[in-house]
Amino acid sequence: MDNAPARQNILLVGFMGCGKSAAGRLIAAKLGFQFVDTDRLVVRNTGLQIVEIFQKHSEACFRDQETLALKSLRNHTGRVIATGGGIVLRKTNAALLRRLGFVAWLTAREEVILERVLRNDKRPLVQTGTPRETIRQLLAQRIPLYNAAAQCVIDTDGKTIQEVADAVIFEARRTF
Ligand code: S3P
Repeated sequence: MDNAPARQNILLVGFMGCGKSAAGRLIAAKLGFQFVDTDRLVVRNTGLQIVEIFQKHSEACFRDQETLALKSLRNHTGRVIATGGGIVLRKTNAALLRRLGFVAWLTAREEVILERVLRNDKRPLVQTGTPRETIRQLLAQRIPLYNAAAQCVIDTDGKTIQEVADAVIFEARRTF
């Protein structure tokens, strides 16, 4: 693709349900980059679904696996890396993200997040009796962390996946 960013990585951070994977796949296709999803790496490396890791082991165990997944990407370039919504919780991860490439933060309205995360039972952290309240609390805790980790913020509200992908590529090109 003409004027593609140099083959550094592009990383997508943000809360569950903000479209990181969907946008990430499209960005990768547009740039001829490879798409990687840290959640998928964790599932592949452990042989367990994320819900199982939380239930049979612990959230801390899942976070350790997330860090290992990020570290395993250190020598790679030309990737679009979608990350789990809690990746910014660990300081080590935030530093790793920045070292890996350009970090874009995708946001969405609380209602949109709620509707998307309740579509299935794959996200253990919101399997509570009061998911809206849970989402609010997690967002309050995490927004400053996304903000500190990212080099740009893309509001996905009212945008198609195509528009989100183009906005990320535009921001990445300004930086690379
Ligand atoms: C999590 C988000 C999930 C997944 C796990 C924990 C979180 O990824 O990593 O369920 O802590 O926000 P998505 O953001 O892709 O849903």
